[in-house]
Amino acid sequence: MDHSFSSALVSPYVTWDQLQLNKTIKLGVMASGSGSNFEAIAQAINEGKLNGKVEVLIYNNPQAKAKERADKFNIPSVLLNHRNYPHREALDEAIVEVFKAHQVEWVVMAGWMRIITNVLLKAFPEKVINIHPSLLPSFKGINAIEKALKAKVKMTGCTVHLVDLEVDSGPILIQSAVPILPDDTSETLHHRIQIQEHHIITQGIALAVQREKNN
Ligand code: GRF
Repeated sequence: MDHSFSSALVSPYVTWDQLQLNKTIKLGVMASGSGSNFEAIAQAINEGKLNGKVEVLIYNNPQAKAKERADKFNIPSVLLNHRNYPHREALDEAIVEVFKAHQVEWVVMAGWMRIITNVLLKAFPEKVINIHPSLLPSFKGINAIEKALKAKVKMTGCTVHLVDLEVDSGPILIQSAVPILPDDTSETLHHRIQIQEHHIITQGIALAVQREKNN
């Protein structure tokens, strides 16, 4: 069977030069696991595709591979283990404290597997960005890839959006569509979605900055 397929980027494309920003944006990234999206951001910055700097990575699982990636890029990282906080707001207060101490302006949730609260959103209004492995508003929440497979849809993908209080909600910045192949497993599909995620995460950041500039 011919398994050729194509993915589609669904958004106006914006290059960093078009933004004409004469300042470096200060990013704070939150990751719970592998951190491949975090690395894609760090890599794009190193390659001059994003005029930004990751000031600090926050991770919540001591084993998160994202921490190793931060070390590789000489990016400071801070472990805030959610198990040490009595409630979500207390964790978010600690997150805000770390980000403010590092003069962070934009927050990117790059595989952050905790629900955030108004504490974070109030500290960074309309400046918290999330990446989700589905074409929102379809398949919100955890196990988005498994949900897409179970629903037997032919097309899924990934979304970068601004965060509001509702989970996987908020204005969409950019999406990429990924076809589901007949013999896809959650692993094979996730792999192809992640390739697209690594493209749109930095584009999403650029579009968020552009949106703020135009407001
Ligand atoms: C990504 O698929 C993202 O969409 C979801 O969590 C995953 C994180 O992957 N929110 P990684 O840690 O960036 O590799």
